[in-house]
Amino acid sequence: MDTVSHPRRVERLITGQATRDGAGVKLTRVLTHDLQQRLDPFLMLDNFASDDPNDYGAGFPDHPHRGFETVTYMIAGRMRHRDSAGHEGLLQNGGVQWMTAGRGLVHSEMPEQEEGVMEGFQLWLNLRGADKMCPPWYRDIQSAEIPEVTNGQGVLARVIAGHTHGTAGAMQREHTEPLYLDLRWPKAAATFEQPLPPTHNGFVYVYRGSVEVVDGQGQASAVPLHRMAILANEGDGVTLRASGDAQAILIAGKPLREPIAQYGPFVMNTREQLMQAVDDFRNGRLGG
Ligand code: CO
Repeated sequence: MDTVSHPRRVERLITGQATRDGAGVKLTRVLTHDLQQRLDPFLMLDNFASDDPNDYGAGFPDHPHRGFETVTYMIAGRMRHRDSAGHEGLLQNGGVQWMTAGRGLVHSEMPEQEEGVMEGFQLWLNLRGADKMCPPWYRDIQSAEIPEVTNGQGVLARVIAGHTHGTAGAMQREHTEPLYLDLRWPKAAATFEQPLPPTHNGFVYVYRGSVEVVDGQGQASAVPLHRMAILANEGDGVTLRASGDAQAILIAGKPLREPIAQYGPFVMNTREQLMQAVDDFRNGRLGG
């Protein structure tokens, strides 16, 4: 079993920014542009959650991406994606779409429901410069294909990426070594420990109840609902405690330590590469 003897403390609590994206989808941008260096290799995290179709119905019509990966995790609801290479898939209830934009594509992400709850996350994970122009790729991971493991205290981990408690996640990535866990507490108080290399940047985002980060001195820092805790780069892991029915995502990864140049849906290393991306998109070289 994974144990941690010197757990990280909370460096900073973040409140996301309410915004709209796509054709007007209401969402909370949790990981914003100003945190890209601090949370390298992660570029963005959006949380969408609403039972009002006016908040999500317009979806994300055709738009391009280049230079990174998008990881869309659907907690509830159904979203259909289509891309310029003719691929199409349905993402629903507990499933993940892992997309490597690489040199680029144009795709749409549209709700396939007219009522009910739509809830989930979209994470942007950077690619190293050497991989930014790789061929685009994606995988639809149905909910049943996401490995799950329960620790000795009854905390369930859905292992989207990386490893925990002897269980390999649905995805592994060589250069960024992402860990992506969806953690679900039982009704009773319980603790979850996750080893993390101190060099890896990591954070916790709470989407049900509240969670505490217990540091090496035994001090507990509360992470309230809809807050992100950036974990200090120290020790050998993180210890999370909750008193019942809490749910949170724990995300960590190995920083790329490369320059980050972003222009909307393009993330490259230099301004010249961004200008090339815009030019390629305008001239139909991203497939759209
Ligand atoms: Co997109």
